[in-house]
Amino acid sequence: MVGGSMGAAKQTSIHGQWSSKWVFVLAATGSAVGLGNIWKFPYITGENGGGAFVLVYLLCIVAIGLPIMMAEIMLGRHGRQSPINTMRLLAEKAKAHPAWQYLGWMGVLAGFLILSYYSVIAGWALSYVMKSISGAFVAASAADVEDIFSQLTGSPVKLLFWHSLFILMTMAVVARGVRGGLEKAVRFLMPALFAILLVLVGYAMTTGEYFFQGITFLFAPDFSRLTGAGVLIAMGHAFFTLSLGMGAIMVYGSYMPQNASITATSLAIVGADTVVALLAGMAIFPIVFANGLAPGAGPGLIFQTLPVAFGQMPGGIFFASLFFLLLVFAAWTSAISLIEPAVAWLVENHGMSRLRASVWAGLVTWLVGLGTVFSFNLASDWTLFGKTFFDLLDFLTANIMLPLGGLLIAVFCGWVFFAGESVAELATRPWLYSSWRFLLRYISPAAVVVVFLQAIGVLG
Ligand code: TRP
Repeated sequence: MVGGSMGAAKQTSIHGQWSSKWVFVLAATGSAVGLGNIWKFPYITGENGGGAFVLVYLLCIVAIGLPIMMAEIMLGRHGRQSPINTMRLLAEKAKAHPAWQYLGWMGVLAGFLILSYYSVIAGWALSYVMKSISGAFVAASAADVEDIFSQLTGSPVKLLFWHSLFILMTMAVVARGVRGGLEKAVRFLMPALFAILLVLVGYAMTTGEYFFQGITFLFAPDFSRLTGAGVLIAMGHAFFTLSLGMGAIMVYGSYMPQNASITATSLAIVGADTVVALLAGMAIFPIVFANGLAPGAGPGLIFQTLPVAFGQMPGGIFFASLFFLLLVFAAWTSAISLIEPAVAWLVENHGMSRLRASVWAGLVTWLVGLGTVFSFNLASDWTLFGKTFFDLLDFLTANIMLPLGGLLIAVFCGWVFFAGESVAELATRPWLYSSWRFLLRYISPAAVVVVFLQAIGVLG
């Protein structure tokens, strides 16, 4: 067993290292920016009434997400191994209970579960690339597009095909490893995605009054529309969108050069992720209102609204194809981080090659994904608490497992990990260090607990 070795943490990981701190920022941003920003953020904002929900989400990003991101990077870089072995090693060093390694295990499980449905949604985007190119959306009405969407989700065969393709794409990159695979994929895709989002916001502005209606919906808080469940969803999404709570950022941190600043890189990642989500909202809601569509349409929201806009604008085929292609890329760079903790562990503890480890991980994910595929058609009335398999999986992972994982990471880094080591890792001005540590020790854990408690009704 290579991974369980004791002693001082190494300066580099056996899996390699990012070639510079910029590549780390790009890779972590690639992980953070994905379907969560462009697909999920708009639809859950629509379902939860807009502005007040967005405000809670933003508060969670700053008070919970940012400090925990810094903690995850720090632990990863200090341990330099897969999250499971990093947690084991750091717990040993701190003379803490060995059960801390189960935090790594929960992360691996969460990664599999999330990727299993993430891949199905990314499959929708893949299918939409083809539809866009074929001109299916040209001059399509909202009803036409809804039809196209339900024909896709209603077909197990189509969904299965695209889901399988996306899993293969993900495994192909992961198998190539840190430099050869992950790095190459993110270098130019992120800037391109950003540019096309700006084009879409530009288009949304041409809708005039609807643009203002969209902006109002997004930014004017109306607390009467916010429910207790909505607060939990906002917090869960802060973890989801920043890729926190399951070891993805930890494992990326383990490939980070020792001299890079954790504070500066975290700020860049969190900032970019938030801007992309808000831009997506600003592009989508004006189109929703201009076409008399419902903001609460659910998971199909962007797939039912954006094609209407593309169908009307000049160069629509070009922009639609490009947009969905970039959405696929955004999902791709996120997907690889969902499975990297498991793959790194298989390589460390089972002596597998990256290729073998990727194949196994891909196979398991693909199988679990079948549940999501069928939850949109054959098994759509198989529900528990009114939720389909997909809804349950999404709820369990984003709203329970990730915040719980994040809470434990905050407690471990803030209370168990030696202060002297975190001072050295952060290497920043004393006031910044103290603010971070205060947030991490008290505010983030308390906030997660309070949101959990209010969601189960203890506090009303
Ligand atoms: N953050 C990504 C998104 O918003 C999804 C993602 C990638 C993720 N890695 C993760 C979510 C790890 C939770 C944990 O689309």
